[in-house]
Amino acid sequence: MPKTEIVLSGIRATGKLHFGNFLGAVQNFVRFQQPGNTCLYFIADWHTLTTLQNPEELRGNLIEIVKDYIAAGLDPEQSIIYAQSSVPEISELCLYLGMIQSLGDLERIPTFKDLIRKNPDNVNLGIVTYPVLMAADILGPKATFVPVGEDQVPNVELARALAHKFNRRFGDTFVIPNMMQQMIRVPGLDGSKMGKSESDNAIDINSPISVINERYLKKGITDVERKRASDPGDPYGRCQSVYPVHELVTAGEVETRTIANACRTAQIGCKECKHRLVDGIAKILEPFQAARAELSEKDDYIKEILHEGGKKARAIIRETTMDVRDKMGVVIY
Ligand code: TRP
Ligand code: SF4
Repeated sequence: MPKTEIVLSGIRATGKLHFGNFLGAVQNFVRFQQPGNTCLYFIADWHTLTTLQNPEELRGNLIEIVKDYIAAGLDPEQSIIYAQSSVPEISELCLYLGMIQSLGDLERIPTFKDLIRKNPDNVNLGIVTYPVLMAADILGPKATFVPVGEDQVPNVELARALAHKFNRRFGDTFVIPNMMQQMIRVPGLDGSKMGKSESDNAIDINSPISVINERYLKKGITDVERKRASDPGDPYGRCQSVYPVHELVTAGEVETRTIANACRTAQIGCKECKHRLVDGIAKILEPFQAARAELSEKDDYIKEILHEGGKKARAIIRETTMDVRDKMGVVIY
């Protein structure tokens, strides 16, 4: 990453953060907080409304996610932390960008097809315009660097295409954002991507370590062909939920190699192996959980952070919006 970037990423407030989000996204967000970078991390509450229309849940999830962010190390002094809805200009930008976006391209985007498949009874307009709103999120602050999961790549591509199109037609306005795919895929208990399926394969970052241990022992899918502890295991192939996570959390390559070898030579049982994994997870989650507990009753503090963050984000995005308005011939009298 070059020295100074405008880093931006958003998350929908559909539920709690899980360990996959924590390792795959939030830890990176924390790393990008460096002198010279401007980091904008927001909760995409409007995007959430495309699928979650329970006001209580939306309000609650939003605050809880921000608590998780702060406890994980996002610093409101260093990063701009805000709710999308605190910046009405984003919806205005979305409207303008929508005027140069063809419907056909939106219907062909994989995330659109995916959402339709999951919500056949609620194909609302918000789902159609989802990537355009996302483009407004990204282009409004002129983000140069957008870390996202693999599933969001087509949406960021669309934002890049929209920026190019606008610039060509109306003159240089938007910065073309680079994308960073967070390639680490964190498998859940059933071996599929954590949180992806609706099954309970996710590890809740706020649950006690003993519960996490219990869940791995009961549900963590290991090498199914390893019937007895004396059978050699296949960590790199058939072990679906444990070994791959060792590679992500267990300190040092030597340590993970040792585990893989012990598995292949039947010197370690899956139970012991799971214990070791949970020890590794505990090292990461314990400091987080301690900081998180401090925040549990501090909703007002979180709201203050969102208020301040909203003001800062708005000041930045307003500039771009005024420019776009002007270039498109819209005059506010
Ligand atoms: N669509 C993203 C997701 O579901 C969330 C999101 C909304 C986002 N706007 C964004 C991510 C802008 C990056 C940049 O994960
Ligand atoms: Fe997986 Fe560990 Fe069991 Fe090997 S010993 S199959 S790596 S859980």
